[in-house]
Amino acid sequence: MDNIAGVRSSGQRQVETETGEGFMKVTYYGHSCFAAQIANQTLLFDPFITGNELATGVDPNNIPADYILISHGHSDHLGDAGDIARRTGATIVSNYEIVQWFGKQGLLKAHPLNHGGGHTFDFGRVKFVNAIHSSSLPDGAYGGNPGGFIVESAEGNFYYSGDTALTWDMKLIGESTHLRFAALCIGDNFTMDFEDAIKAADFVRCREVLGLHFDTFPPIKINHQAALDKFKAAGKHLHLLHPGASHEF
Ligand code: NI
Ligand code: MN
Repeated sequence: MDNIAGVRSSGQRQVETETGEGFMKVTYYGHSCFAAQIANQTLLFDPFITGNELATGVDPNNIPADYILISHGHSDHLGDAGDIARRTGATIVSNYEIVQWFGKQGLLKAHPLNHGGGHTFDFGRVKFVNAIHSSSLPDGAYGGNPGGFIVESAEGNFYYSGDTALTWDMKLIGESTHLRFAALCIGDNFTMDFEDAIKAADFVRCREVLGLHFDTFPPIKINHQAALDKFKAAGKHLHLLHPGASHEF
């Protein structure tokens, strides 16, 4: 960890990825949970495995994490975060209120962000960006406002939308960042459907999309073929992974 931080100068975060030779390994763990491998670090997003009937093949006790990034307070996004943070010693990155909430549970290794702000970690820079959704915590505590994340690193950049409606704000991301992939909610009912996600991919100027927040519950079941076809017709590539499967973007 320290070696990686040591070789990368702190100001070196503007990276061209359009013609990048490398790749970024992403593993899907079901619902909106995925991990991105950056250098030797694992960034785990929105861990919700326990209680996800589609992820019974995934063992939350074996998932690696150096950082756990949490988009908002709903239990289908942070259900396993506390246990994984305790086991791995990972740093929790989320909004101020959610970081405070974990702190009260003794999880003090954390970094709070708020909308529009970013921080440069040893693997790269994380910016917390707008999402249109809600964010109460499982015990009813105030969870602050929901967000998404932009991650910029030497290995490439990506955007995770969190749970959100389609929003014009996404255009700001496309204007300022070259994304290797975008991880977008596509399941409708609580978030964007896949047609809005295609517009979101346009807004953030990205062709490669990892689909999230679909099929887990009856209201968000989607027609996979229809979604894949629509993306293809729009000149984009939707990746629908099985829980436990990986893809290199
Ligand atoms: Ni939610
Ligand atoms: Mn959700």
